[in-house]
Amino acid sequence: MIRINENYNLLQGSYLFSEVNKRVKAYQEKNTGRKIIRLGIGDVTQPLSPSVIAGMKRGVEDMASAASFKGYGPDQGYDFLREAICDADFQSHGINIGSDEIFITTGAKEDTANIQELFAQDIRIAIPDPVYPVYVDSNVMAGRSGAFTDGRYRNFVYLDCNERNHFTPSLPSEPVDLIYLCFPNNPTGQVATKEELKKWVDYARKNRALILFDAAYEAFIRDPGIPHSIYEIEGAREVAIEFRSLSKTAGFTGTRCAYTMIPRDLMAWDAAGNPHSLNQFWFRRQSTKFNGTAYVIQRAAEQVFSSKGKEESRAIIDYYLGNAKLISEGIKSQGWNFSGGTNSPYIWFKTPDGLNSWEFFDRLLSECQVVGTPGAGFGKCGEGYFRLSSFGSRENVQEAMERILQVKF
Ligand code: MLT
Repeated sequence: MIRINENYNLLQGSYLFSEVNKRVKAYQEKNTGRKIIRLGIGDVTQPLSPSVIAGMKRGVEDMASAASFKGYGPDQGYDFLREAICDADFQSHGINIGSDEIFITTGAKEDTANIQELFAQDIRIAIPDPVYPVYVDSNVMAGRSGAFTDGRYRNFVYLDCNERNHFTPSLPSEPVDLIYLCFPNNPTGQVATKEELKKWVDYARKNRALILFDAAYEAFIRDPGIPHSIYEIEGAREVAIEFRSLSKTAGFTGTRCAYTMIPRDLMAWDAAGNPHSLNQFWFRRQSTKFNGTAYVIQRAAEQVFSSKGKEESRAIIDYYLGNAKLISEGIKSQGWNFSGGTNSPYIWFKTPDGLNSWEFFDRLLSECQVVGTPGAGFGKCGEGYFRLSSFGSRENVQEAMERILQVKF
């Protein structure tokens, strides 16, 4: 008899964005003809930049001739892309990351979900709340969660983020082995200073813990004092894996390309106390389970790191940041407490009139035909909050805010 992985029974409902889509579809079917504006999932709307398209075309041309055709690519990604990333994102900023420490993949979602395979079953995991649900669900599927009671999994150490601590997690009050951090944060839009990150790096060094640092939104940072990479903090090479993505940075949500940094110094220990290289473990994992990001896509991605490509991406991000400003100003004019909206594409705010997150979602959809993301979907501390994303077109964002501001909540 084929039996299921019973850990899947511990997952709560459907994946957040699937549930959002289901509700929107049901509303749309009953209200045909109404224009729905989607500011829910962080999916980009602006086209790939001219440099990226030129890189993609070059990739296509290469595939059209036997002399330049490419079959399976190198396990870690093509050198041309890893070297371009290494130079543009790290070396030129004085950050010590080598191209052999960069792994090209298809998405930070996949990598942040898959990386937990490298670790023992009984590690203690610290998870901020609210949080990107993939970190939680991937560990539930792997059997690390324990039972779900009162909105929480028994075995996880939750790091509450709320208005009192400005949505910034404090160090855990009990020992942990693995820590998920995301800055600029999804969903709260909060950023971390160097001092804040140093606190985590020091903790991890002292406790032989590992930080999984999701930097998928680093390109939205405009404040020069805010670090883009955890490797800007001394000692982070020994204790942190960093995830970056071209999804929001360069419009690759549908194109799919991301990269994960695993320094050679980074170790994890076996039961006998022997150190093992996580760079080598991940290489082993990827070469067994993954056959690489398509050559054409890697050629497109290479151009994101060219000087023209960087300028073009920056202009697109500025456009989304302009949307974020419009949304924040609207939320502020309503007197709703919010975070994010600067250095981040997300605006996270307290729902008005004591509405819970899903009640507000339903009212926003039925009264304004605007879709957002209920904070409760990101964890218990997200209840009573709501997230709007700035990735729509300017016209749609303007229209959405006009509609929201007309309603008395
Ligand atoms: C989000 O809206 O939280 C993100 O777009 C989801 C993702 O990147 O997978």
